[in-house]
Amino acid sequence: MKRQRIHPKGPEFSQVIAGVWKWLDETTHERCISAALDCGISTFDHADIYGQYSIEELFGRVLRQQPGLRNKMELVTKCGISLKVESRPENRIKHYNTSYSYIIRSVEQSLQNFGTDRIDLLLLHRPDPLMNPYEIAKAFSDLYEQGKVLHFGVSNFTSTQFEMLQTYLPMPLVTNQLEVSLFKPEVFFNGVADTMMKHQTGIMAWSPLGSGKYFDDLEKMQDLGVMADKYKASTAKLLFAWLLQHPARLFPITGTTKTERIQEAAGAVDIVLDRQDWFAMLKIITGRDVA
Ligand SMILES: NC(=O)c1ccc[n+]([C@@H]2O[C@H](COP(=O)([O-])OP(=O)(O)OC[C@H]3O[C@@H](n4cnc5c(N)ncnc54)[C@H](OP(=O)(O)O)[C@@H]3O)[C@@H](O)[C@H]2O)c1
Repeated sequence: MKRQRIHPKGPEFSQVIAGVWKWLDETTHERCISAALDCGISTFDHADIYGQYSIEELFGRVLRQQPGLRNKMELVTKCGISLKVESRPENRIKHYNTSYSYIIRSVEQSLQNFGTDRIDLLLLHRPDPLMNPYEIAKAFSDLYEQGKVLHFGVSNFTSTQFEMLQTYLPMPLVTNQLEVSLFKPEVFFNGVADTMMKHQTGIMAWSPLGSGKYFDDLEKMQDLGVMADKYKASTAKLLFAWLLQHPARLFPITGTTKTERIQEAAGAVDIVLDRQDWFAMLKIITGRDVA
């Protein structure tokens, strides 16, 4: 699979990324890491909170068993959401925290969980209404100078939130990780994708298959299936191709736990979608022509 720089000053990632949110046990990690690397998916998307703070450590167990793996992959992780769970008794309520000390502590914990000396890309998981851009800039700068985090980005930010934070930072935000799929195409119409293109910032697309929820809509799936037949592909593969076609440079994050579906997602990079078919797929979901 071709690798692509997510930003002119950012890291090179595989065009399709593996998301570990639903990898709930060690065997799944072993199977899926190996399947992903075998088909050229070298970038893995984490968050400190996945599996109620357990998944980074599960992934780290595989890295400890096979230390050669670390240099074959890029690790993305996030911080900024605090969950009210047993392992965090100090959290009286689910909240956001993007303070200096919280970001530093979270990264130290992630490094320990993975058993690595560096995180390739750290994202702020959600826009925090109390975010103080001076504190964030200081935390990012210190982590960068210490070599603990190589690049920084955000997730679920609007255009104005992205541009506000960028103004205060000495380094570029190299991505905005967003929910984008044929089922959630809003960013292509509300200016967020345009803003990312203006900054040459690639978009990591989460839930590229709508988390699998739409596969039960048999009528729409049948219509998408007819289109998929035209490209001799499965419907899921075509849904990845729909995202990869966009000039904003999307990096879809597959969330599957099945090795054959990881391979299927990787194969989508070879499909070239006809422009009218891109709109035809959109119409299948929206039920209407564009204006
Ligand atoms: N930044 C954020 O706020 C945010 C939020 C949510 C997620 N994420 C990231 O995005 C990643 C992907 O999210 P997602 O899990 O919602 O992604 P997704 O790829 O849209 O959905 C994956 C789900 O769809 C199911 N599925 C059903 N049919 C499938 C098929 N033909 N091919 C593949 N999957 C199929 C999978 O089940 P099987 O496992 O049985 O295949 C799995 O449960 C997460 O792992 C996480 O890294 C980020």
